[in-house]
Formats: sequence, C-alpha cells, structure tokens
Amino acid sequence: MARKVIIDCDPGIDDAVALTLALFDPRLEVVAVTAVAGNVSAEQATRNVQTIVEQLDPPRYPRLGSATEPDSAPYIDRRHLNGEDGLAGAGLAVSQLARQHPSEKLICDEVRAAPGEVTLVCLGPLTNVARALTRDPELLSLLGRIVIMGGSVSGVGNVTPCAEFNIYFDPPSARTIFRSPTTKTLVPLDVTDQVVLSLELLNQLPDETSRAGRLLRAIVPHLFRTHRHELGQESIRLSDTVAIAAMLHPELFHTTELSGDVETSGELTLGATIFDRRPNSPQRADIEVTTELDVPAVTDCIVRGLADAGRQTAI
Ligand code: BDR
Ligand code: CA
Repeated sequence: MARKVIIDCDPGIDDAVALTLALFDPRLEVVAVTAVAGNVSAEQATRNVQTIVEQLDPPRYPRLGSATEPDSAPYIDRRHLNGEDGLAGAGLAVSQLARQHPSEKLICDEVRAAPGEVTLVCLGPLTNVARALTRDPELLSLLGRIVIMGGSVSGVGNVTPCAEFNIYFDPPSARTIFRSPTTKTLVPLDVTDQVVLSLELLNQLPDETSRAGRLLRAIVPHLFRTHRHELGQESIRLSDTVAIAAMLHPELFHTTELSGDVETSGELTLGATIFDRRPNSPQRADIEVTTELDVPAVTDCIVRGLADAGRQTAI
C-alpha cells in the first residue's frame, strides 16, 4: 500500500525535482503539497507549488497549501541559485492562483483525516510544521513520522560555516521540531551532498515529449549555470531529491539514533544543528539520522525515477 505523505517545500529547483520524483512513484500517495517561505518568499513559494503541480498534472492531484512569511527570518534566500522566481525565470504557465488553505491548517486537516498514517516530509524551513503543532498540539500523537531535509551532522554548513539553509532560515521553528516528541528522521546536508550530479544529468532527464521532461529541462540547466557562476562548481547537488530517494529506497541508506538540537542564538553558530555523541550522554537519542548512503545506487534511483515520471506524463 502506498505511504501517505504531505510534502512541505519551498520551491526552488531542487524542491521541484523532488516533487517530480515523489508525485509519480507508486510507493507514495502525496495527499498534500504545502508551500513554505525559504528559497523564495511565501507568496512566490505558494505560486511555485501550484505551478509545478499544474505543469506535471499527476494522476492523483494533491491538495495545495499556501505559505505565509515566518515571524522573524534572517534576510536570506536562494534566488541567486534558483532565479528571481525560484524556478529559473522560465516563465512557466500557471492558472489563476487557486484559493488555498494556509499550509499549517492543511497539515493539521490531513493528519487528522488519517491518524497515524501520514508522513510529513519537510524540504524547506520548518515554519509550517512548528505552526501546525502550535495550532493543534494533539498532532504530535497523530503524525506517523516527520522526515526532514536539513542540518549537518559533521557541522559543516552551506549558508554559514556551520549552518544549513533550511535550519538557518528559521532556527526557533527547527528547535521546536527537534525537541518535540515526534518520530523524526533527519536527512542532513553532509549525506545529501555526497550525491554529486554532473552535466551528464541533463542528457538523462526525460525528453520534452513529456510534461515532466518539459518542466525539468526548463529549470535544471539554470542550476548548473548558477553553480558555475556563483559557486565555481561544474556539478550540482539536489538535497531535497536525495531526501525523497531516502523515503523510496531506505535500504540504500544507513541511519543511527542520535539526540540533536538547534542553536537559536549563537553569534557565529545560529542555525547549527548540534548532536550529542558523548558515550554516556544523559540525553535520549530520539532522532533517526541518516549517516551513510550508497551514492551510485541513489543516483541511479533518482535518474530512473525521473525517467519514469517522463513515461507517465508523455504528451
Ligand atoms: C536546502 O536548501 C534549499 O536551498 C534547498 O532547496 C534544500 O532544501 C539544502 O540546504
Ligand atoms: Ca528546499
């Protein structure tokens, strides 16, 4: 039976590829896609979620949730990598924006509709999830699991020396989730970064005779260009897509239970994730953390999954 998931995301090209992988895989039933501010503003993230789902037009249409800005966020986004609109400035068509429920309400509604069955997959900052738990504290006992792409176990970040973007964008919300007694899995940056995708990926994307191919070919090349110009890199990493691969193929990943927390006030360490690995730690290890993966096999799964999305969306 397909696993019910809500995907909370801040598209972003990486998020768009991750959604393409998730929406056509028979192992997942994506009941909702909820937008959160991060790579782009709340308004743009809301628009982008609708754009991506409309462009892909999957067989089971998920409900869509709208983002609102976080209470206080550091001024940071990722438009220099993803384009002004977060989707490569590709001018993708979208119908008039549908009236949507706020993401945190939709999360509450969908979890309550299937108690214990829903996995919440977080591919952006944790603002919506923290708000959902504030709105409905009983959600804690009704959620199946939370899977989070974010943080770093080695301590090496991507927006500061020690902080990863999704956590750094809204550290108080991240701390709320890390400290909550939910069943959690973390897929951190130091694991997702091991999947390095070369320009070869562009030849492996589905072709433009499919809706998935059209979308991916309109946005992924932009990420290679900005990685070269902004970061001096010839290859890209797709952290959110690796996180979806971890859900689809857990046998390719190794996890370990750790106790973790988030720094919310450090002058140099704001947004860092801290893991207690002392042998006799008094803290209870309560986060399942992905620590290793089979890089060639995960890469292959991503390429095959996207090709399958192409076959399912042939025009
Ligand atoms: C994360 O940051 C965002 O820019 C990506 O979409 C991904 O979720 C990686 O640090
Ligand atoms: Ca993201």
